[in-house]
Amino acid sequence: MAEADKKDGDFVLHVTENPDEAIYFYKEVDAALQPRSRDMLLKYTAIPEDRLVSHIKEAQRRAFKVAPYSSVGSMTWLNPMILLHFAYEKVLERVKNGASILDCGCMIAQDLRQLAFDGAPTDHMYGFDLEPEFFDIGYDFFRDRQTFRGSFMKVDAGQDFSETSLTDLVGKIDVIWCAKFIHLYDYDDQIAMASKLVRLLKPRPGSMFVGSQNGFPGGKQMKLSGAGSMGSKTNTTFLCDVHQLKEIWKEVSKRTGLDFDVEGTLLNLRTIGRHKDNGSEYHKVIGYNLQYLITIK
Ligand SMILES: C[S@@+](CC[C@H](N)C(=O)[O-])C[C@H]1O[C@@H](n2cnc3c(N)ncnc32)[C@H](O)[C@@H]1O
Repeated sequence: MAEADKKDGDFVLHVTENPDEAIYFYKEVDAALQPRSRDMLLKYTAIPEDRLVSHIKEAQRRAFKVAPYSSVGSMTWLNPMILLHFAYEKVLERVKNGASILDCGCMIAQDLRQLAFDGAPTDHMYGFDLEPEFFDIGYDFFRDRQTFRGSFMKVDAGQDFSETSLTDLVGKIDVIWCAKFIHLYDYDDQIAMASKLVRLLKPRPGSMFVGSQNGFPGGKQMKLSGAGSMGSKTNTTFLCDVHQLKEIWKEVSKRTGLDFDVEGTLLNLRTIGRHKDNGSEYHKVIGYNLQYLITIK
């Protein structure tokens, strides 16, 4: 997007694999873990309470070695973002009633586990990620290798889907859950990626594309430096607001010939006590959750 390219005020995030150097590698598990997530983890994993913190740190350490995303280091996966989403109850009801759901760039698939914890069957759950080691970390972290019946696929979403195992899912999915994935791309590539992903949905009214990602009022381009092993291989990400989201989906509609109902909101996580600024530029930039529900009309 030419306009975004010209924007002043781009933020540059230095990405490093060294936890001691990464400004987003948090060491305080208790500060990150919400009471509701703690309760869910204790019940879902049946891990003894006195082992919970070390269990979480082990998952964080392993996941950060796989790919040093800021969300991995800051443990946002501890508190499933799907619970904050305005469409959560709708998604849960659909999946409980047998709808299929695909988690894009699922990492350890904490949001699918939350749905399972809340009573959804896992048989029709799918997740894909570039880094299959995340699937194992997920099984070990949630201790559900024998009980979670969903399928995980190693996929590079940058490839043509016909060359990946997603080809079998084209036109077959009821609900797409896309968290902190599309924002890894710049504005134009977000249109391209959304246009590819939406074709995985059943092309009929009511199919839902549900998103949750970092946003920013007025939009913000974030450049990644030193991104070495970052999975997406992109070094420009774009954090958008609701207006830009709607523009993106207008383009997706033109490219796919599908009509969408687009609802979105930019939640300032400070207002619900889920983000604290510490004066750094990084903390000013993060802390906005763009959530949206795109429904095929
Ligand atoms: C920022 S993390 C978000 C993970 C998870 N969805 C969440 O909300 O916590 C982005 C995820 O996308 C995956 N990813 C990045 N590029 C990808 C690609 N080209 N194809 C598939 N997955 C990719 C990464 O491996 C990583 O697990």
